[in-house]
Amino acid sequence: MSQTVFITGGAGFIGSALIRLLIRESDWRIVNIDKLTYAGNLESLAELGNTPRHIFSHTDICNRPALDDLFNQHRPTGVIHLAAESHVDRSIHGPGEFIQTNVTGTYELLEAARAYWNSLEGSERSGFRFHHVSTDEVFGSLGPTGLFTETNLYQPNSPYSASKAASDHLVRAWHHTYGLPTLLTNCSNNYGPCQFPEKLIPLMIHNAVSGKPLPIYGKGDNVRDWLYVDDHAKALRTVFERGVIGETYNIGGHNEKTNLEVVDTLCALLDQLQPRADGRSYIEQKISVADRPGHDRRYAIDASKIARELCWIPQESFETGMRKTVRWYLDHRDWVERVVSGEYRHWMDRNYGDRK
Ligand code: NAD
Ligand code: TYD
Repeated sequence: MSQTVFITGGAGFIGSALIRLLIRESDWRIVNIDKLTYAGNLESLAELGNTPRHIFSHTDICNRPALDDLFNQHRPTGVIHLAAESHVDRSIHGPGEFIQTNVTGTYELLEAARAYWNSLEGSERSGFRFHHVSTDEVFGSLGPTGLFTETNLYQPNSPYSASKAASDHLVRAWHHTYGLPTLLTNCSNNYGPCQFPEKLIPLMIHNAVSGKPLPIYGKGDNVRDWLYVDDHAKALRTVFERGVIGETYNIGGHNEKTNLEVVDTLCALLDQLQPRADGRSYIEQKISVADRPGHDRRYAIDASKIARELCWIPQESFETGMRKTVRWYLDHRDWVERVVSGEYRHWMDRNYGDRK
C-alpha cells in the first residue's frame, strides 16, 4: 500500500511544486495541511484535478486539536513541514505572524507529531520521520568569500530568519531530547512557477510587463544563490526518503548572482520573448530605491554534503531555469493577475469552497 505523507504549506510556492512532483512521480497519498494565508493558492495545484491522492485540509498548524485529529485519521508515515510566513520585507513590517506560525506553529506540529509517533509500534514507529524545511538565511550574512556549511553558526538577522532559526532549534531539541526522528534542510533562494509576486523574480517580471518600475534595493550588489524550485522539490524527496535521521543538509544551486545580474538577465529574456511595444529595453524601467533595513549582503551554499551522501545535484542551470520561469509567467498572466487583484481567493471559493 502506498504511504501517506503530511505536507504543510502545500498551497504555497515550494509546497505546491513538491506536491505536483510527488503526484506525478510517486505513488504517495498526500495530506496537504494549509491555512491559506495570502500566500496560499490552490490554483497552483489545479493541474492535479480530483486525484484521490491529494487530500486538502484547510488547517492552521497552530491548531493542536485539529492536528491531532489529522494524525489519528490519516496515520502518516511522515511529515514534510513547509508551512511558514516566508517574506523578509513582511517580517520587517509585522513580525508577529512570523513568531506565531514559524515558532509556535512548528512547536504545535512537533508536539502533535511526537504524540502520534509515541503511539506507534514496530516498523511504523521506526519508519516515521519529521522533515523540517528551512532556509540558509538562519546562518546570517557572508562576506565576499566563503560558503555556508551545515556546521555554520546560526546568526539570523531579520525577524523572518530569526523565526526560522528558532523553529530549527526546536526541531533539533525534539530530536535530541525526545528522540523524534527528524531531518532538517536549509535551502538557498528558490525561483520558478507559482511564486507569489512579492519576491524579487516574479515581482520584477510582473512589473516589467505591466510597464511599472523595477525597484532595486540599495546598490543592487547583494548576492543570493538561486535554485530552481523543482530542484528543491527533488532534494526534499531525496532527503525525506534517504536522509540520515538527526542530520541536516544544505541545499543550493551554485548560482550566486547579484540582484542587478538577476534583473538584467530577466530584462534580456523579456526583451527577447516579449519585446516592449516601443522597441526599447525593459532595463530602462530599473530604479534604485531605499535599501531594506538590515539587508543581508551575501548568501551562498556549500551543497557538497547532499551531493556526496545522497547523490542530489541540481538539474537546472541559472540560464535554463530563468528562461523556463520567464516563459511560465508570460504564459500564465491570468494566474498573476488573479493573485495581484485578489481574485485568486474567489477562484478558490468557486473551485474548492466545499473542501476548505
Ligand atoms: P510561501 O509563502 O509561498 O508558502 C507558505 C505556505 O504556508 C502558504 O501556502 C500558506 O498558506 C501556508 N501557511 C502559512 N501559515 C500557515 C499556518 N499557520 N498554518 C498552515 N499553513 C500556513 O512559502 P515558500 O516560499 O513556499 O516556502 C516554503 C518553506 O520553505 C518555508 O518554510 C520557507 O521558510 C522555506 N524556504 C523558502 C525558500 C524560498 O526561496 N522561497 C528558500 C528556503 C526555504
Ligand atoms: P527576496 O526575493 O525578498 O528574498 P530574500 O530576501 O529572502 O533573499 O529578495 C531577494 C533579493 O532581492 C534581496 O537581496 C532583496 C532584493 N529585492 C530588491 O532589490 N527589490 C525588490 O523589490 C525585492 C522584493 C527584493
